[in-house]
Amino acid sequence: MVLNQPGLQYNNEGSAMKKLVIFAIGSYSLLMVVSLVFAQASAGKLTAQVCSACHSTARICEKLGNRKPEVWLQTVERMKSNGAKLSAADVTTVTEYLATAKPGSKPVCQ
Ligand code: HEC
Repeated sequence: MVLNQPGLQYNNEGSAMKKLVIFAIGSYSLLMVVSLVFAQASAGKLTAQVCSACHSTARICEKLGNRKPEVWLQTVERMKSNGAKLSAADVTTVTEYLATAKPGSKPVCQ
């Protein structure tokens, strides 16, 4: 029978392997996208939580999308000296969030 030829068997295994590799790469990329979305969501929550302690987040919302990352860093550092409770890691997380969030992004914007 044709299927019992060693060459064909090898080819079948090869294509199964190829499918497995494609599946693995596909799943991995999906996982990366999902974890990025989750990271963005939790950074947003942290920002809204920490940055609403003294004033409304509307003040922040109106600036989303029109400040350079280094200016956001200055803002966040200044808020820290105003008394915002932020660890060094939080400063990075919040600054990255503010520098990349699109105008109107929830939960900073309501
Ligand atoms: C401990 C109180 C406090 C916290 C917490 C706080 N702020 Fe402020 N924020 C202030 C004060 C006081 C001002 C006005 C004086 C100033 O601008 O430093 C202000 C003003 C601002 C302004 C308007 C001035 C500007 O730069 O356009 C923005 C934007 C702002 N804060 C963003 C933030 C962000 C982002 C966070 C979270 C990292 C935050 N604030 C957390 C006290 C706080």
